[in-house]
Amino acid sequence: MARMFTVAVKDTDKTFPCAEDQAVFKAMIHGRSGPPNHGCCGGGCGVCRMRVEGDWFAFKPMSAAHVSEADKKQGIVLLCCVQPRSDLVVAPVTS
Ligand code: FES
Repeated sequence: MARMFTVAVKDTDKTFPCAEDQAVFKAMIHGRSGPPNHGCCGGGCGVCRMRVEGDWFAFKPMSAAHVSEADKKQGIVLLCCVQPRSDLVVAPVTS
């Protein structure tokens, strides 16, 4: 059985559960904490680009057009391409 983690949306009271084998963005949409535009969910459109604090695993390639190697070092990812490996905090990318 997959381990469950809690994902918190920074500076809000929103949290949602996410299984270790589930894309964080899918869990966010399912938990109604995501944006109205659900995007491609395939790593190509960039709608789900956010900063993540915590341990995560990229199970799908992220478009270099939306996430550079420098971004990844700062925890900026495409949420549809990552799964949690700990409780996470996610936040919009402001710059
Ligand atoms: S939803 Fe399109 S890249 Fe994640």
